[in-house]
Amino acid sequence: MNSGTPAAGHCPAPRSSADASIGVFDSGLGGLSVLRHARVALPAEDFLYVADSGFAPYGERSADWIRERSAVLGEFLLDQGAKALLIACNTATAAAARTLRERWPALPIVGMEPAVKPAAAATRSGTVGVLATTGTLSSSRFAALLDSFGRDIRVVTRPGSGLVEAVERGDFDSPATRAQVVSHIEPLIAEGADVIVLGCTHYPFLRPLIEQAAGPAIRVIDTGDAVARQLARSLGQAGLLRSGGKGDERFWTSAPVSQSAPALRRLWQPLARVDALPV
Ligand code: DGL
Repeated sequence: MNSGTPAAGHCPAPRSSADASIGVFDSGLGGLSVLRHARVALPAEDFLYVADSGFAPYGERSADWIRERSAVLGEFLLDQGAKALLIACNTATAAAARTLRERWPALPIVGMEPAVKPAAAATRSGTVGVLATTGTLSSSRFAALLDSFGRDIRVVTRPGSGLVEAVERGDFDSPATRAQVVSHIEPLIAEGADVIVLGCTHYPFLRPLIEQAAGPAIRVIDTGDAVARQLARSLGQAGLLRSGGKGDERFWTSAPVSQSAPALRRLWQPLARVDALPV
């Protein structure tokens, strides 16, 4: 992974026109699992998506680094004309959502957090497993989430080491990825979890393997759909919903385009426009 400290610079103003686009970013391709839902919920909107794959994974990086980098990506998206931001990354939300909201108080900013609340409502065994990055699991935001919704249940957590990298490589189904998924799911089941929360936006792309490893009695949940609906609500409240037409998507990656584009196009669509991220 790349090192070095990103430097946030100027502070562009958000667009306040419904015709402007929605900026989305993630440490890489994971946020496409959220964009899929957002595309369905908001068919008329244009989306600008940054895959920060050259700096992935975020999960082991410091919160300060993620805050700085998220500000740089936010600036880039606002420079491209964004009217709202979707932080399609649990780890970046935990580290940076507050800072971004302080920086752009008028901008609708929607983030992600592991679905502990719906999991608490769904569990019958009383034990919920949360698979997420180390950054998310060690954040004060996650601690607050457990405090609010995890009091009456047992929450077993596990960092999904290696899974973000597998998705970034476009390796969704190899024996090595399968074995890695099994090594994360089996301990959660052994602890008695009957609901598994996918607390990282990369993991829905491994959902078939995760469900296979967990078996039919275990419910697997993520927040992509709920977050897309939240984004629609928040644009509506701000008077920024686009009303007609068919929206499109544009993508940037901080990894070499030749390296990132094949997996991105496989997950999105074969002709997706992918450019090099200049920041
Ligand atoms: N998709 C990011 C998330 O939701 C992955 C973080 C990482 O790059 O480690 O947490």
